[in-house]
Amino acid sequence: MKKEPIIIGIESSCDETAVSIIKNREVLSDIIISQEIHKKYGGVVPELAARLHDKNIVKAVNKAILSANIKKNDIDAVSFTIGPGLIGSLLVGACFAKSFSTGLKIPLLAVNHIQAHVLSHFIKNANVSNYYPIFPFLSLVISGGHTQILKVSNFFHMEILGSTLDDSVGETFDKIARFLGFSYPGGPIIEFFSKNGCDKKFLFSKPMVKGLNFSFSGFKSNVLQFISTNLKKDPLFIKNNLHDLCSSIQKCISEILLDKVKKATLKTNIFRVSLVGGVSSNSKIREIFTSFAEKEKWEIFLLKKKYTTDNGSMIAITGLLKYKENLFDSIYVSPYSKFKIF
Ligand code: KG4
Ligand code: ZN
Repeated sequence: MKKEPIIIGIESSCDETAVSIIKNREVLSDIIISQEIHKKYGGVVPELAARLHDKNIVKAVNKAILSANIKKNDIDAVSFTIGPGLIGSLLVGACFAKSFSTGLKIPLLAVNHIQAHVLSHFIKNANVSNYYPIFPFLSLVISGGHTQILKVSNFFHMEILGSTLDDSVGETFDKIARFLGFSYPGGPIIEFFSKNGCDKKFLFSKPMVKGLNFSFSGFKSNVLQFISTNLKKDPLFIKNNLHDLCSSIQKCISEILLDKVKKATLKTNIFRVSLVGGVSSNSKIREIFTSFAEKEKWEIFLLKKKYTTDNGSMIAITGLLKYKENLFDSIYVSPYSKFKIF
């Protein structure tokens, strides 16, 4: 019988050095070395991120091999994030993966980060429901770098139905959180303070963008202006209203996202919807989508929280799926920072 390939996945597009090893869609090890240094700057500093990837990548790979209980020579192929992301950070992962592939004489698999977020659903036991989505389905990609609705026809064919015209939803959470005095990443902190808040206390206007595109910069300015105006009247405005503010902001963002996905289902007649990316770990967003899905008989696919944010397993599973189709890459592939169609 043909041996199932063992794939190592290396993710270094932003501020996590993540390495995972998978076999037969099953995660054998999953290592993440996070870069805490960015907290004090309120966002990821690209130069520092690249240097830290460089410092940590060998450590992360060794830990992943050890914890998978395999030997380096058992690995059949190396997959890595080719883009989009921070170019310095991507270069570290790419250089490492190319050297690893050359040194071990194993194939190289260059993986698109967004495609990998979507294909996280095909990692064994990664879904909350434990079912893999059936094609075609819609995927809402909500992360620090991206906000998109994709129509996913198969593993390798994904069509963009809508994208943000300006800020991503993760950036919106992070910038508002920073204004409220919180460190990076701000999304989980806003979620934390939303608990026990009244989500109807403050109303914010929703962006009027035609079609399936999003826009968050006007919404963000509207929120920041509202808070500034109130701070002039009451310097303790944030402190006295923190829970209600966070809760109202979070609800409004969730509704903006749901409104667009509703439109996408009607336009495509596809009622299978997946949520991926760091922001999809937000409980309010999950709750709003889940209850709407129940009402409208959509099938909804949510990932276990550890698979929503950047991780090595999503790169390894995409690598595995490419491997099975012999979609190998040459060592001359170059990382790209901006979004490219895959
Ligand atoms: O997918 P991800 O880990 O990295 C990118 O590819 O960008 O997403 C990171 C983003 C950050 O903006 C962070 O604030 C946001 O995801 N995030 C959240 C939550 N957890 C992470 N936003 C809202 N609620 C959360 N619970
Ligand atoms: Zn990501």
